[in-house]
Formats: sequence, C-alpha cells, structure tokens
Amino acid sequence: MSSRASSIKTEVDLFRVLSRRHTSATGKSDAELEEERAEIERLMSRMFGRSRQEHSEEEKTRHVGVVFRDLTVKGLGLGAALQPSVGDIFLGLPRFLRKLFTKGPKAATAKPAVRELLSDFNGCIKPGEMLLVLGKPGSGCSTFLKVLGNQRFGYEDVQGDVTYGGTDAKKMAKDFRGEVLYNPENDLHYATLSVKQTLEFALKTRTPGKESRNEGESRKDYVREFLRVVTKLFWIEHTLGTKVGNEFVRGVSGGEKKRVSIAEAMITRASVQMWDNSTRGLDASTALEYVQSIRSLTNMAHVSTAVALYQAGETLYECFDKVLLIDEGKCLYFGAAEKAKEYFQHLGFDCPDRWTTADFLTSVSDEHERSIRKGWEQRIPRSAEQFAEAYKKSAAYQQNLEDMREFETHLEEQRRERLANTSKKNQKKNYTLPFHQQVWACTQRQFLIVYGDKASLIGKWGGIVFQGLIVGSLFYNLPKTSQGAFTRGGVLFFVLLFNALLALAEMTAAFASKPILLKHKSFSFYRPAAYAVAQTVVDIPLVFTQVVIFDLIIYFMAGLGRTPSQFFISILFLWIVTMTMYAFFRGIAAVCKSLDSATRVTGFAIQALVVYTGYLIPPTKMVSTGGAPRAHLLTYHSIPGSSGSCGSILFNTDSRL
Ligand SMILES: Nc1ncnc2c1ncn2[C@@H]1O[C@H](COP(=O)(O)OP(=O)(O)O)[C@@H](O)[C@H]1O
Ligand SMILES: [Mg+2]
Repeated sequence: MSSRASSIKTEVDLFRVLSRRHTSATGKSDAELEEERAEIERLMSRMFGRSRQEHSEEEKTRHVGVVFRDLTVKGLGLGAALQPSVGDIFLGLPRFLRKLFTKGPKAATAKPAVRELLSDFNGCIKPGEMLLVLGKPGSGCSTFLKVLGNQRFGYEDVQGDVTYGGTDAKKMAKDFRGEVLYNPENDLHYATLSVKQTLEFALKTRTPGKESRNEGESRKDYVREFLRVVTKLFWIEHTLGTKVGNEFVRGVSGGEKKRVSIAEAMITRASVQMWDNSTRGLDASTALEYVQSIRSLTNMAHVSTAVALYQAGETLYECFDKVLLIDEGKCLYFGAAEKAKEYFQHLGFDCPDRWTTADFLTSVSDEHERSIRKGWEQRIPRSAEQFAEAYKKSAAYQQNLEDMREFETHLEEQRRERLANTSKKNQKKNYTLPFHQQVWACTQRQFLIVYGDKASLIGKWGGIVFQGLIVGSLFYNLPKTSQGAFTRGGVLFFVLLFNALLALAEMTAAFASKPILLKHKSFSFYRPAAYAVAQTVVDIPLVFTQVVIFDLIIYFMAGLGRTPSQFFISILFLWIVTMTMYAFFRGIAAVCKSLDSATRVTGFAIQALVVYTGYLIPPTKMVSTGGAPRAHLLTYHSIPGSSGSCGSILFNTDSRL
C-alpha cells in the first residue's frame, strides 16, 4: 500500500477526524468529546476491528481483492428512441420492407449496433486498497463499477476475467453474492420509514449467524451495537427518528440521506465495494469526511473499494492508493495515485498552478481544457485510443501487470485459508437469513411503511366510506320482486369492480418501489420472493378492512339477502377477488420493465375481466367454441349455476321470483 494514501491508517486516525468534526459541529466540552471518542473507538473496533475478525467465521472466509484482466464490456448502441405511437404499429411492416429492398436483408434483420463501453481494462484492487475512478460523465465510470460490482445485467457482453479472491465472477454471483457490492448513485429508500427503521431493517437482514458473532452476543445486541456505530460514524444519530423522505414527504436533508445510504451499504460488510459518485450532493468538507470514512473502513476491515467521483479536491485525492482515468470507455491510466500526475506530465501536459490533480487528470482528454507543454503540441496523444495506446507502452502499465501478478501469487494461500475455515454454514453467502426470516423481516417493514403513511391509508378508507354511501343510496332498498333482479346484479358487479380497480393503484406503487427492491436484492438483504410474500401477508388485514367497510355499507343499504351466510359469503368472495386482483397487478408489474408497458397489459386485461365477469354478457350468452370452456376468466358467481351461493345472495330463499 502506498505511503501517502494511508494518512488515515488506524482507528485512532479515524477518531481524530471524527473528533474534529464534533469540535466544529457542536459546542461540547473537551471531556465530553474525549468520552465520546473513546466510546466510538471501542465500538468501532468491536465492529470492524481485530476482535471481530478473529471470532468471525464470516470474516475469515471472505473473498478479498479483485483482479480484472482484459475486461471489455459491450452494450447495445441505442440511439434516441421515440415513444411508439399508433401509426408505428401499422408502419412497422412497410418500413421493414423498404429497408429490405433498399439496404438488403442483412441490414433489415440486424440488431442495433453493439458498442464497446469499456475496452481492455487490466488491473487489481488488493484488500485494503482504495481506487479512485475518474472520468467525465458518460465516459464509462458507472459501467466499470457495475461490472466490478458484479451487476452485469443490461450489457450485451462482458469479456475478460474478473476474479474476487481468485473466484470467478460467475461463481461469486451464484454463491457469494453478498460479498460484492455496488452502491448506486441515487439514494433509494422508502420515504415513509424513519432512518432508524431503514437501518435496523438492513441490519436485521444482514446479522450473521452465531459462528460469526462475538461470544454471547445476541442478534438484538448485534443490531443495537452496529446501529450505534454506523450512526455515530456518519453522524446521523440526531436523524434516527426522522423519516427518510422524498420530494413529497418531508424528511432528512440531502446530505443526511446520502449518509444513510452509505451506512446501509456499510452494514453489508462486503469485501469488494463499489461506490458510484457517492459525494453528489455533499459539500466539499463532508465529501472529504465521507471518503475518509471509507478509507478507514477499507483499512480496518481489509476490503477493496473503488469510488467514482466527478471532482475531487487535493486532500480527497490523497486518500486513494490507485487511480483509474477513463475516457470514452478507454483506460487512459490505471496505477498508483501519486504517480498519475507525473505520468501525464511525461506525456507532455502541464498542470497549471492551483489545479488539483484530479482536475488535471480529467482535463488531459479535453482539448479545450488541457494545457500542453511548449514544443509538445504535435507529440501528445489526442484521441482516447491514442491515450490508451500510450498507456499500454508505458512503464506504469508494466508496473500494473507486475502488481497483478504479485497479488495473484497470494491467491492460492487465501483460497486454502478459506477452505480451512469454511464450515457448512458459509459454503454459500447469498442471503444471511433463511427465507422465512426474510419474509418476517419484510412483513414487519411493510407494516411500518404503511404505518408511516397513515394519512393516505385513512384517506383511502375515508373515500371508500363516502363512495359506499353514495352508491348505497343509489341502490337503496332494492325491490324484492323481479324488478330488482337486474339491479341486484348491478350492485354486486359494482362492488367487485370498484375494489378491483382500486387494486390498480398497486401498479404505480410497485414500480415506485422496484428500484429499492433491486438495490436490496443486490445488497443481498432478501429475495424478491420474500418481499412478494410479505406484501401479501400485509394485504390480508388491510384489504379485509377495506372490503368490509365497503361491503357493510352497500350490502345493507341495498337490502341484499339478510342472513349471516349470505353476507359472509359475499365478504369472502369480495375479499378473495380483491386479493387476487392485487396479486394480478403486482404480477404484471413484476414482469414488465416499465410502467408504460405494464399499463398496456392491464388496460387490456381489465377490459377482458370486466366483459367476462358475467354481468355485461351473461354466461349463457357467451360464445363457446367447440367443446372448449366458455371464456369467462373471472366470474362473481363462480359457483356452478346462477342459483348457487351468489345467486342466493341476490335474493332471500323466500324470494318471490
Ligand atoms: N446497459 C447499457 N447498454 C448500452 N449502453 C450503455 C449501458 N449502460 C451505459 N451505457 C452507455 O455507456 C456510456 C457510459 O455510461 P456510464 O458508465 O453510465 O457513464 P458515467 O461515466 O457517466 O458513469 C454511456 O454512453 C451510456 O449511454
Ligand atoms: Mg455514472
């Protein structure tokens, strides 16, 4: 590890940073600060320090260090895409034919061109090393981090090898997903959960088994202690009770939210961590403190981290061991951070006074920004390709290859050590909790999310009461003669339709929470299936209440059959149908990629369901093709014969029909 990058090497250094923060932030006395410092120190070393590493099997069996060789990533080079309109459906075929005749069959059937997003990257991040990824927006920083964070979906092809502690990316994705982390640029959280609930949930799902906790430490202790440490470390203690918030829900500030995200990622204790542009929205000093915290985490927990930043001050730059400069998907430099400036100066660039190293590095590929040494105008590389070529010929590249080779000699030893320490429990490390506990944790959280947003739930139920009263008064005391036969069907149909359409709101909710779900999945908090089950569990009482409110009002106002069995059967059916519709819409939301395409499916599905419920077209009139069953998908009188149970909801048994 380089000497200058390790100015924060030990826990003591970290606490110096922390205490400096406290001195400027609060007016506490020295004694208090000292006490606080001592406490954080004790806690930190229990969390990440020696004692935990020695006790924890999980720590001993980690895949540390990442090596990437000839890494090339390809993606579909999509141009601007317009929203398809009705005309496009009809024009599809003529357009295809025109292309076929003008440009030939190859062009007509060709997929959009595949473009190299990253070309031929080589390097390694050893445990305890921190890499700075620099580049202009759009140059491929996120792509690099995603691929190293083992998030390969969305790319056409990933060539080359990426290995984590000697294990290839495929196996890591299959068996050790929890050890590699990609932290996206955006802060994805449930707005109505408080900071404490958000972090506690993350902790609960990532609390290791007994063999990886300290002796005598219960799950609860672990959660409590870790929560104390991370909230102190990122000074979000004062926000614990505040909602995370979003554009509509008032919550914590932007910087605090960022720190919640960082704390959440830290909870995963992944051994390879990729942080995408995480200082966005932070001021310069907060950004520095944040990078310093990652630095100390990197040192203490002995993990490999890479951080992409668009701008970095000099002190911030000094926190890093290595730097990677990307432009147009080409690697312009990968190597020691302190040698980067020298490297580009050798290529013929000048670093103007008062420019930070990071600014200087990003400027070299920009023809308006860079300043060229006198006499070198014709000799400098100009395009990204020329830069990449120059790098491949440089001593820095040779050094890099040497570094990789040197690290790879230790891998065998690491593998043996892992094998020796692995018990059955740690043969796979995808999810920390078994499935049923994931469901339980998600269920609890789901209740908290609903509870946090009480207002909209109460609003919904209030609306249902009014709607019930209005509709009930429309169908008030239906005549018990055959005159009321059709309208009775109408009431039942309306009650069903209303609840089914209310379920449509689930679609938007599902799409809103999808990014969070995907992030949590990549953090290995829980399986998406656990979340789906939890949602249904939470729905059971909520939908029941909704259905009872609505049915109670309308049923008795309309004067439908007043026997317990008839009433309860109507509730049962309504409840089951509504639950089914919730699941149906969520299912569509899970399958479709965007709300737009999902709406098209639901639009059609609702039509079909409404028409074939058996009210608009009576089942007897439905066309049956051959011996095939009639096309009624969902009927409210699903019990055979219209005089079945629902038929009898319409009329009392002594009906005068
Ligand atoms: N999944 C993908 N498929 C095709 N092209 C992509 C994909 N992801 C990103 N790109 C393209 O790759 C380039 C680099 O993107 P990105 O890595 O997000 O840049 P940045 O450096 O701003 O993080 C951009 O031109 C972007 O449009
Ligand atoms: Mg990006």
